[in-house]
Amino acid sequence: MKALVVYDSVYGNTEKIAKAIGHAIDGEIKVISAGEADPADIKSIDILIVGSPTHGGRPTPAIQDFLDKVTGSDIKSIKVAAFDTRSSSRLVRIFGYAAEKIASSLTSKGGTLILSPEAFFVKATKGPLKEGELERAADWAKEITE
Ligand SMILES: Cc1cc2nc3c(=O)[nH]c(=O)nc-3n(C[C@H](O)[C@H](O)[C@H](O)COP(=O)(O)O)c2cc1C
Repeated sequence: MKALVVYDSVYGNTEKIAKAIGHAIDGEIKVISAGEADPADIKSIDILIVGSPTHGGRPTPAIQDFLDKVTGSDIKSIKVAAFDTRSSSRLVRIFGYAAEKIASSLTSKGGTLILSPEAFFVKATKGPLKEGELERAADWAKEITE
């Protein structure tokens, strides 16, 4: 099985989650930042996993740019999953979160969502991640491939 994990990360927390997901999946896995990702690479994979920090309830511009470049023919018949990192502050709930928006962008173009979008929590804007989040990310990744 071939999987690609595309992430963006300002302070490194989403990168850590992306790498934990990559390590947990058996097969040929690439974990790359959105800036390095070529949407055309998607055609040759089985599973695409996209993750972003939540910024103002949305994915970051780098992830949005990647998503905008993915075409229907790239993503058709590809399994997809989405995650984000976010703070657990109650105030930010009204804006929504990145993972759901990533998932709906990918499915609206024809990707098949294989698992509900997932959130991983930071303790503060720059991190660190809350305890147990890397382990939870590995468990989530294993569910993807089951
Ligand atoms: C400009 C900015 C906007 C943010 N907006 C939100 C938000 O809307 N909701 C939320 O839960 N967290 C928000 N956060 C917290 C980020 O989600 C947190 O910084 C991120 O998970 C850290 O990931 P990173 O280390 O990969 O950058 C925001 C952070 C920044 C810097």
